[in-house]
Amino acid sequence: MADGPYRTHRAAVEPGGAMLADGPRAQMSADVRWGLAQPQKQLPSKYFYDTRGSELFEEITRLPEYYPTRTERELLVDHVVGWLEVIEPATLVELGAGSARKTRILLNAMHAADARACYVPVDVAGDFIQATAGELRAEYPSLEVHPVVQDIADPLQFAADLRRPVLFALIGSTIGNFEQDAAVDMLANVRRAMSTEDRFLLGADLRPGRGKSRERLTAAYNDFAGVTAEFNLNILTVINRGIGTDFDPDCFSHRAFYDADQGRIEMHLVSCSEQEVHFPGGDVVRIGEGETIRTEISCKYDLRSIEALFGAAGMSMDRWFQDQEGLYALAVGRVEP
Ligand code: AVI
Repeated sequence: MADGPYRTHRAAVEPGGAMLADGPRAQMSADVRWGLAQPQKQLPSKYFYDTRGSELFEEITRLPEYYPTRTERELLVDHVVGWLEVIEPATLVELGAGSARKTRILLNAMHAADARACYVPVDVAGDFIQATAGELRAEYPSLEVHPVVQDIADPLQFAADLRRPVLFALIGSTIGNFEQDAAVDMLANVRRAMSTEDRFLLGADLRPGRGKSRERLTAAYNDFAGVTAEFNLNILTVINRGIGTDFDPDCFSHRAFYDADQGRIEMHLVSCSEQEVHFPGGDVVRIGEGETIRTEISCKYDLRSIEALFGAAGMSMDRWFQDQEGLYALAVGRVEP
Protein backbone atom coordinates (compact mmCIF):
# COMPACT_ATOMS: atom_id res chain seq x y z
CA MET A 1 0.00 0.00 0.00
CA ALA A 2 1.22 3.53 -0.68
CA ASP A 3 2.52 5.38 2.30
CA GLY A 4 0.29 8.40 2.87
CA PRO A 5 1.02 10.94 5.57
CA TYR A 6 -2.29 10.97 7.28
CA ARG A 7 -2.94 7.51 8.54
CA THR A 8 -3.52 9.18 11.84
CA HIS A 9 -6.88 10.28 10.56
CA ARG A 10 -7.53 7.48 8.19
CA ALA A 11 -9.23 4.76 10.10
CA ALA A 12 -12.61 5.61 8.61
CA VAL A 13 -11.59 4.83 5.05
CA GLU A 14 -11.13 1.19 4.37
CA PRO A 15 -8.56 0.19 1.76
CA GLY A 16 -9.76 -1.20 -1.52
CA GLY A 17 -13.09 0.57 -1.52
CA ALA A 18 -14.96 -1.71 0.88
CA MET A 19 -18.16 -0.40 2.47
CA LEU A 20 -17.45 1.31 5.78
CA ALA A 21 -18.45 -0.27 9.07
CA ASP A 22 -21.31 1.43 10.97
CA GLY A 23 -19.11 3.51 13.30
CA PRO A 24 -16.79 5.01 10.67
CA ARG A 25 -19.74 5.54 8.28
CA ALA A 26 -21.69 7.44 10.93
CA GLN A 27 -18.60 9.51 11.68
CA MET A 28 -18.00 10.31 8.01
CA SER A 29 -21.66 11.13 7.49
CA ALA A 30 -21.65 13.51 10.48
CA ASP A 31 -18.39 15.14 9.31
CA VAL A 32 -19.68 15.68 5.78
CA ARG A 33 -23.10 16.97 6.85
CA TRP A 34 -21.48 19.37 9.34
CA GLY A 35 -18.91 20.58 6.80
CA LEU A 36 -21.48 21.25 4.09
CA ALA A 37 -23.64 23.20 6.55
CA GLN A 38 -20.86 25.75 7.25
CA PRO A 39 -20.94 29.20 5.58
CA GLN A 40 -17.69 28.19 3.81
CA LYS A 41 -18.47 24.62 2.87
CA GLN A 42 -15.68 22.23 3.86
CA LEU A 43 -14.70 18.58 3.93
CA PRO A 44 -12.09 17.10 6.33
CA SER A 45 -8.80 16.43 4.58
CA LYS A 46 -8.51 13.12 6.45
CA TYR A 47 -10.84 11.70 3.81
CA PHE A 48 -8.30 12.18 1.00
CA TYR A 49 -6.41 9.08 1.98
CA ASP A 50 -8.06 5.94 0.72
CA THR A 51 -5.77 3.61 -1.24
CA ARG A 52 -6.02 5.74 -4.42
CA GLY A 53 -5.58 8.97 -2.46
CA SER A 54 -2.45 7.60 -0.80
CA GLU A 55 -1.04 6.59 -4.18
CA LEU A 56 -1.78 10.05 -5.54
CA PHE A 57 -0.08 11.65 -2.55
CA GLU A 58 2.99 9.48 -3.16
CA GLU A 59 2.95 10.73 -6.76
CA ILE A 60 2.69 14.33 -5.52
CA THR A 61 5.81 13.88 -3.42
CA ARG A 62 7.76 13.02 -6.59
CA LEU A 63 6.46 15.93 -8.70
CA PRO A 64 8.99 18.53 -9.84
CA GLU A 65 6.84 21.31 -8.34
CA TYR A 66 6.38 19.66 -4.92
CA TYR A 67 9.64 20.54 -3.16
CA PRO A 68 8.74 19.83 0.55
CA THR A 69 9.40 16.07 0.56
CA ARG A 70 12.70 16.32 -1.30
CA THR A 71 13.90 19.29 0.67
CA GLU A 72 13.06 17.70 4.01
CA ARG A 73 14.92 14.53 3.05
CA GLU A 74 17.99 16.59 2.11
CA LEU A 75 17.87 18.45 5.42
CA LEU A 76 17.63 15.17 7.31
CA VAL A 77 20.63 13.72 5.51
CA ASP A 78 22.75 16.90 5.46
CA HIS A 79 22.08 18.21 8.98
CA VAL A 80 20.02 15.98 11.22
CA VAL A 81 22.09 12.82 10.89
CA GLY A 82 25.21 14.66 12.16
CA TRP A 83 23.25 16.29 14.96
CA LEU A 84 21.88 12.89 16.08
CA GLU A 85 25.45 11.71 16.58
CA VAL A 86 25.76 14.46 19.18
CA ILE A 87 22.48 13.98 21.05
CA GLU A 88 22.50 10.15 20.73
CA PRO A 89 18.80 9.44 21.22
CA ALA A 90 17.97 5.96 22.55
CA THR A 91 14.37 6.12 21.32
CA LEU A 92 12.61 7.59 18.30
CA VAL A 93 8.91 8.34 18.84
CA GLU A 94 7.47 9.14 15.44
CA LEU A 95 4.07 10.79 15.40
CA GLY A 96 1.95 9.74 12.47
CA ALA A 97 4.29 6.93 11.40
CA GLY A 98 5.33 8.77 8.27
CA SER A 99 7.30 7.99 5.20
CA ALA A 100 9.30 4.84 5.75
CA ARG A 101 12.15 6.32 3.73
CA LYS A 102 12.56 9.28 6.05
CA THR A 103 12.14 7.13 9.15
CA ARG A 104 15.01 4.97 7.96
CA ILE A 105 17.31 7.99 7.66
CA LEU A 106 16.75 8.66 11.37
CA LEU A 107 16.88 5.00 12.38
CA ASN A 108 20.11 4.36 10.45
CA ALA A 109 21.79 7.21 12.31
CA MET A 110 20.50 6.03 15.69
CA HIS A 111 21.25 2.39 15.01
CA ALA A 112 24.83 3.21 14.01
CA ALA A 113 25.38 4.80 17.44
CA ASP A 114 23.38 2.29 19.52
CA ALA A 115 22.28 -1.05 18.09
CA ARG A 116 19.70 -1.33 20.87
CA ALA A 117 17.84 1.76 19.72
CA CYS A 118 14.07 1.75 20.15
CA TYR A 119 11.44 2.89 17.63
CA VAL A 120 7.93 3.86 18.74
CA PRO A 121 5.63 4.69 15.82
CA VAL A 122 2.41 6.35 16.97
CA ASP A 123 -0.52 6.11 14.60
CA VAL A 124 -4.23 5.34 14.67
CA ALA A 125 -3.97 2.85 11.80
CA GLY A 126 -2.99 -0.25 13.76
CA ASP A 127 -2.70 -2.57 10.76
CA PHE A 128 -0.34 -0.18 9.04
CA ILE A 129 2.04 0.34 11.96
CA GLN A 130 2.05 -3.36 12.84
CA ALA A 131 3.09 -4.12 9.24
CA THR A 132 5.78 -1.42 9.34
CA ALA A 133 6.98 -2.74 12.71
CA GLY A 134 7.38 -6.21 11.20
CA GLU A 135 9.42 -4.90 8.28
CA LEU A 136 11.68 -2.85 10.54
CA ARG A 137 12.28 -5.76 12.95
CA ALA A 138 13.42 -7.84 9.97
CA GLU A 139 15.68 -5.06 8.70
CA TYR A 140 17.16 -4.07 12.06
CA PRO A 141 17.20 -7.26 14.15
CA SER A 142 18.41 -5.54 17.33
CA LEU A 143 15.99 -2.61 17.06
CA GLU A 144 13.15 -2.68 19.58
CA VAL A 145 9.89 -1.64 17.94
CA HIS A 146 6.90 -0.79 20.10
CA PRO A 147 3.98 0.54 18.04
CA VAL A 148 1.39 2.68 19.81
CA VAL A 149 -2.04 2.71 18.21
CA GLN A 150 -3.68 6.06 18.93
CA ASP A 151 -4.55 9.38 17.31
CA ILE A 152 -1.54 11.68 17.48
CA ALA A 153 -3.85 14.52 18.51
CA ASP A 154 -4.68 12.69 21.78
CA PRO A 155 -2.45 12.69 24.91
CA LEU A 156 0.44 10.30 24.29
CA GLN A 157 0.18 7.00 26.18
CA PHE A 158 3.17 4.67 26.37
CA ALA A 159 2.95 1.16 27.83
CA ALA A 160 6.36 1.36 29.50
CA ASP A 161 8.97 3.98 30.36
CA LEU A 162 10.83 5.20 27.30
CA ARG A 163 14.61 4.82 27.16
CA ARG A 164 16.01 8.34 27.11
CA PRO A 165 17.04 10.57 25.49
CA VAL A 166 13.98 10.42 23.26
CA LEU A 167 13.70 12.06 19.86
CA PHE A 168 10.04 12.88 19.20
CA ALA A 169 9.43 13.58 15.51
CA LEU A 170 6.57 15.07 13.52
CA ILE A 171 7.92 15.43 10.01
CA GLY A 172 6.49 15.61 6.49
CA SER A 173 4.99 19.08 7.20
CA THR A 174 1.97 17.29 8.67
CA ILE A 175 1.71 20.15 11.19
CA GLY A 176 0.58 22.37 8.30
CA ASN A 177 -2.70 20.51 7.93
CA PHE A 178 -3.76 21.37 11.49
CA GLU A 179 -5.52 24.56 12.55
CA GLN A 180 -3.44 26.67 14.94
CA ASP A 181 -5.24 25.61 18.15
CA ALA A 182 -5.05 21.95 17.23
CA ALA A 183 -1.34 22.32 16.41
CA VAL A 184 -0.66 23.86 19.83
CA ASP A 185 -2.66 21.12 21.59
CA MET A 186 -0.75 18.41 19.77
CA LEU A 187 2.64 19.91 20.63
CA ALA A 188 1.55 20.41 24.24
CA ASN A 189 0.82 16.66 24.39
CA VAL A 190 4.33 15.98 23.12
CA ARG A 191 5.77 18.43 25.63
CA ARG A 192 4.03 16.58 28.50
CA ALA A 193 5.82 13.38 27.45
CA MET A 194 9.24 15.08 27.23
CA SER A 195 12.01 15.44 29.76
CA THR A 196 14.81 18.00 29.52
CA GLU A 197 17.23 15.66 27.73
CA ASP A 198 14.69 14.86 24.97
CA ARG A 199 14.18 16.74 21.72
CA PHE A 200 11.27 17.35 19.37
CA LEU A 201 11.93 17.46 15.61
CA LEU A 202 9.30 19.30 13.58
CA GLY A 203 9.19 19.55 9.76
CA ALA A 204 7.51 22.70 8.42
CA ASP A 205 7.00 24.22 5.01
CA LEU A 206 8.07 27.88 4.96
CA ARG A 207 6.16 31.01 4.00
CA PRO A 208 7.24 32.93 0.91
CA GLY A 209 10.20 35.13 1.74
CA ARG A 210 13.52 36.32 0.42
CA GLY A 211 14.50 33.15 -1.38
CA LYS A 212 11.04 31.68 -1.93
CA SER A 213 8.50 33.25 -4.22
CA ARG A 214 4.78 32.93 -3.79
CA GLU A 215 4.72 31.37 -7.29
CA ARG A 216 7.06 28.62 -6.14
CA LEU A 217 4.77 27.86 -3.23
CA THR A 218 1.50 27.88 -5.17
CA ALA A 219 2.99 25.81 -8.02
CA ALA A 220 3.53 22.99 -5.49
CA TYR A 221 -0.28 22.77 -5.20
CA ASN A 222 -1.05 23.44 -8.88
CA ASP A 223 1.21 21.01 -10.70
CA PHE A 224 1.34 20.93 -14.45
CA ALA A 225 0.47 17.20 -14.65
CA GLY A 226 -2.75 17.69 -12.67
CA VAL A 227 -1.94 15.12 -9.98
CA THR A 228 -2.91 17.46 -7.14
CA ALA A 229 -6.20 18.21 -8.91
CA GLU A 230 -6.92 14.47 -9.13
CA PHE A 231 -5.94 14.06 -5.46
CA ASN A 232 -8.33 16.87 -4.51
CA LEU A 233 -11.25 15.50 -6.56
CA ASN A 234 -10.70 11.96 -5.22
CA ILE A 235 -12.14 13.05 -1.86
CA LEU A 236 -15.59 13.12 -3.48
CA THR A 237 -15.23 9.52 -4.65
CA VAL A 238 -14.08 8.46 -1.18
CA ILE A 239 -17.12 10.10 0.40
CA ASN A 240 -19.60 8.74 -2.18
CA ARG A 241 -18.30 5.25 -1.56
CA GLY A 242 -18.19 5.70 2.21
CA ILE A 243 -21.68 7.07 2.83
CA GLY A 244 -23.59 6.75 -0.44
CA THR A 245 -23.78 10.41 -1.50
CA ASP A 246 -23.83 11.30 -5.21
CA PHE A 247 -21.19 14.02 -5.61
CA ASP A 248 -20.30 14.26 -9.32
CA PRO A 249 -16.51 14.81 -9.51
CA ASP A 250 -16.91 15.94 -13.14
CA CYS A 251 -18.90 18.94 -11.90
CA PHE A 252 -16.05 20.29 -9.74
CA SER A 253 -12.62 21.72 -10.48
CA HIS A 254 -9.49 22.11 -8.40
CA ARG A 255 -8.36 25.45 -6.94
CA ALA A 256 -5.40 26.07 -4.62
CA PHE A 257 -4.16 29.51 -3.55
CA TYR A 258 -1.99 31.13 -0.90
CA ASP A 259 -3.76 33.26 1.71
CA ALA A 260 -0.97 35.57 2.90
CA ASP A 261 -3.00 36.92 5.84
CA GLN A 262 -3.47 33.46 7.29
CA GLY A 263 -0.11 32.18 6.03
CA ARG A 264 -1.63 29.13 4.43
CA ILE A 265 -2.45 27.36 1.22
CA GLU A 266 -6.11 26.51 0.87
CA MET A 267 -7.37 23.81 -1.47
CA HIS A 268 -10.93 24.04 -2.69
CA LEU A 269 -13.27 22.27 -5.09
CA VAL A 270 -15.17 24.74 -7.25
CA SER A 271 -18.68 23.82 -8.35
CA CYS A 272 -18.96 24.19 -12.13
CA SER A 273 -22.74 24.62 -12.02
CA GLU A 274 -25.70 24.92 -9.67
CA GLN A 275 -26.08 21.38 -8.35
CA GLU A 276 -27.55 19.16 -5.64
CA VAL A 277 -25.89 16.45 -3.58
CA HIS A 278 -28.18 13.74 -2.22
CA PHE A 279 -27.69 11.76 0.97
CA PRO A 280 -29.22 8.31 1.60
CA GLY A 281 -32.42 8.97 3.53
CA GLY A 282 -33.37 11.95 1.39
CA ASP A 283 -31.34 14.95 2.62
CA VAL A 284 -30.19 17.30 -0.13
CA VAL A 285 -27.44 19.92 -0.12
CA ARG A 286 -27.47 22.64 -2.80
CA ILE A 287 -24.22 24.04 -4.13
CA GLY A 288 -24.21 27.18 -6.24
CA GLU A 289 -22.33 27.72 -9.48
CA GLY A 290 -18.83 28.93 -8.57
CA GLU A 291 -19.34 28.09 -4.88
CA THR A 292 -16.41 26.26 -3.32
CA ILE A 293 -15.87 23.48 -0.82
CA ARG A 294 -12.62 23.84 1.15
CA THR A 295 -10.88 20.48 1.38
CA GLU A 296 -7.52 21.31 2.99
CA ILE A 297 -5.48 23.97 4.74
CA SER A 298 -1.71 23.74 4.59
CA CYS A 299 -0.24 26.26 7.02
CA LYS A 300 3.17 27.72 6.29
CA TYR A 301 5.58 28.84 8.97
CA ASP A 302 8.68 30.90 9.59
CA LEU A 303 11.18 31.05 12.44
CA ARG A 304 9.03 33.45 14.46
CA SER A 305 5.78 31.57 14.06
CA ILE A 306 7.42 28.25 14.99
CA GLU A 307 8.97 29.91 18.04
CA ALA A 308 5.49 31.14 18.96
CA LEU A 309 4.03 27.67 18.41
CA PHE A 310 6.73 26.07 20.57
CA GLY A 311 6.23 28.76 23.22
CA ALA A 312 2.46 28.19 23.32
CA ALA A 313 3.10 24.47 23.80
CA GLY A 314 5.69 25.01 26.58
CA MET A 315 8.81 24.33 24.51
CA SER A 316 11.65 26.51 23.38
CA MET A 317 13.62 26.52 20.14
CA ASP A 318 16.81 24.49 20.33
CA ARG A 319 17.88 24.37 16.69
CA TRP A 320 16.75 25.44 13.25
CA PHE A 321 17.81 23.81 10.00
CA GLN A 322 16.67 25.25 6.69
CA ASP A 323 17.77 24.92 3.08
CA GLN A 324 19.57 27.72 1.28
CA GLU A 325 16.55 28.78 -0.75
CA GLY A 326 14.39 29.10 2.36
CA LEU A 327 11.86 26.55 1.15
CA TYR A 328 11.55 24.29 4.17
CA ALA A 329 12.74 23.96 7.76
CA LEU A 330 13.33 21.39 10.44
CA ALA A 331 12.94 22.95 13.87
CA VAL A 332 14.07 21.33 17.09
CA GLY A 333 12.21 21.99 20.32
CA ARG A 334 13.28 21.29 23.88
CA VAL A 335 11.90 21.76 27.36
CA GLU A 336 13.75 23.93 29.85
CA PRO A 337 14.78 22.44 33.22
C1 AVI B 1 0.28 15.91 3.81
N1 AVI B 1 0.45 17.33 3.67
C2 AVI B 1 1.60 17.80 4.43
C3 AVI B 1 0.44 17.79 2.27
C4 AVI B 1 0.59 19.33 2.24
O1 AVI B 1 1.44 19.80 1.49
O2 AVI B 1 -0.12 20.00 2.98
C5 AVI B 1 -0.83 17.36 1.56
C6 AVI B 1 -0.94 17.88 0.16
N2 AVI B 1 -1.98 18.49 -0.34
C7 AVI B 1 -1.74 18.81 -1.59
N3 AVI B 1 -0.53 18.46 -1.91
C8 AVI B 1 0.01 17.86 -0.81
